[in-house]
Amino acid sequence: MSFTVAIDGPAAAGKGTISKAVAAHFGFAHLDTGLLYRAVGRRTLEGFGALEAAQALTAEELEQGDLRTAEIAKAASKVAVIPEVRAALVDFQRAFARRSGGAVLDGRDIGTVICPNAEVKLFVTASPEVRAERRFLELSAKGADVTREQVLADVKERDARDAERSAAPMKPAEDAVQLDTTDLSIEAALAKALEIISAKL
Ligand code: C5P
Repeated sequence: MSFTVAIDGPAAAGKGTISKAVAAHFGFAHLDTGLLYRAVGRRTLEGFGALEAAQALTAEELEQGDLRTAEIAKAASKVAVIPEVRAALVDFQRAFARRSGGAVLDGRDIGTVICPNAEVKLFVTASPEVRAERRFLELSAKGADVTREQVLADVKERDARDAERSAAPMKPAEDAVQLDTTDLSIEAALAKALEIISAKL
């Protein structure tokens, strides 16, 4: 039997942390679908075509090198507006969602497009300022040379591109539970997510 948890929301809202912890808690598999777009985005920075890269993408590529850089995030959000690129990544995501033992997928369109029948849908948000601060601390800890202002500008630019595109725009599914983490600690946000999911198990 499969049980799918769809977790969507904008960059640095806490999706990744919550998804990982939820998967560990229930023993579910976890797929960060942003990595698929990041891997394709990285290929375009290397000079490859986005569609070819999406069609040739392998699971191994998601593990190779650091995909969580500001440059790759931007390239990812650019390839993510292309409908054919999105279409090429659907089967991989749906197959992952259907695996037995439960799965958590996080992204932008999991509850709306990839897994419209997911048992649980969360839409995790936080103010752009709080998200930019979290992302700034994360990137600085890795030694990246970034400023708060630059990270906030990048976050806002990416939000706009993700929300305004016509192919699978970022938006909460009608039946998603919204979780605003602006004033919540990681522990509190996770407790809330676990409570919502446990109620559906
Ligand atoms: O979640 P993450 O920041 O790693 O995603 C990088 C980019 O990939 C997003 O800004 C978005 O443009 C795209 N993406 C998407 N659909 C998903 C996951 C990510 O369009 N399900």
